[in-house]
Amino acid sequence: MEQKGLRPLSGKVILVTGASRGIGAAAAKRVAQGGATVVVNYHQNRERALAVLQEVEKEGGKGMVFQADVTQRKQVEEMARAVREKFSAVDVLVNNAYFPFEVNSLHEISWEGLEKATHHELAAFYNCARAFIPGMMEKKKGRIIVVSSRLAQQPLPRMGAYAAAKAALEAMANTMAIELGPSGITVNVVTPAFTLTDASAIMPEEFKERVRKSRPLQKHLYPEDVAGAIAFLAGDESDMLTGSHILITGGSHLQL
Ligand SMILES: NC(=O)c1ccc[n+]([C@@H]2O[C@H](COP(=O)([O-])OP(=O)(O)OC[C@H]3O[C@@H](n4cnc5c(N)ncnc54)[C@H](OP(=O)(O)O)[C@@H]3O)[C@@H](O)[C@H]2O)c1
Repeated sequence: MEQKGLRPLSGKVILVTGASRGIGAAAAKRVAQGGATVVVNYHQNRERALAVLQEVEKEGGKGMVFQADVTQRKQVEEMARAVREKFSAVDVLVNNAYFPFEVNSLHEISWEGLEKATHHELAAFYNCARAFIPGMMEKKKGRIIVVSSRLAQQPLPRMGAYAAAKAALEAMANTMAIELGPSGITVNVVTPAFTLTDASAIMPEEFKERVRKSRPLQKHLYPEDVAGAIAFLAGDESDMLTGSHILITGGSHLQL
C-alpha cells in the first residue's frame, strides 16, 4: 500500500506552465517524486517537454504534455479541457512560464516593450486563473502557486519592464488570495532571486560570480532550489498558507 507520507502529493493533478525547461521542468519532476499527476505545459520545445514527462514517469508518476501559449486564452481553455478529459480538474496550478522582455532603462524603453512585458505576465495568469479556478471551486479546494521574481521588490537598472510586470503579478496573486480563500483555494508566491537557467544564461560569467559571492550562502541558485518550495506549497503541510511569499535568495534580500 502506498504511504501518504512518502507520496504526499498522490491524487493531485498539478499543471506547471512553462515546464519544458528551467524552474518549471524542475518543479514538474519534484512534484512527480511526491506522487502527483503532472501536466507539462510547453510552448515551442516539444522534445524537451517529452523528456520531462519521461522523468515524471520514471518517478512512477503519471502525466501528459500539452502545447499551449498561455498568453492566448483559447489555447489555455483547450488545455483545461484536455486535462479534465484525461485526468480530472487541476488541483494545483503553477504559474511559471517565462517571457523574454526588452532590457532598457524605463525612461528610454519603448511603450511596446513595457506593454508587452506586462501583457505577457498578466494575460498568462489571467487566462490560467479563468480556465482552472472553476474546477478548483467544484472540488472546494485548490492551490495556485505564482512564480515571481525578486526584481519586483529589489530592482536592478534596465530590468524595469520585467520588475513592473512581476510586481503587478504579485498584486494579482495577493488580491486573489483574499477573494478565493472562502472557496478553499490558496494563492501563494514563490520569489526566486537570480537562478541559473536558459533565461539567465545571457548574463556574463563575471555577473553570475558577483551575484553568487554577494549572497550570504555564497552559492548559485539552481531550478531545483526553487522546485522544493513549489512542492511544499502544493502539499498539505502548507494548508494554512495563503498570500504568503517565499523568498529563495540564498539570503541576498538581507543585504545591499
Ligand atoms: N532564471 C531566473 O533568474 C529567474 C529569477 C526569478 C524568477 N524567475 C521566474 O521563474 C520562472 C521560470 O523561469 P526560467 O528561468 O525557468 O525560464 P526558462 O528556463 O527560460 O524556461 C522558460 C519556460 O517558459 C516556457 N514558455 C515561454 N513562453 C511561453 C508561452 N507563451 N506559453 C507557455 N510556456 C511558455 C518555455 O517553453 P518552451 O521551452 O516550450 O518554449 C519554457 O518551458 C519565470 O516566471 C521567471 O520569471 C526566473
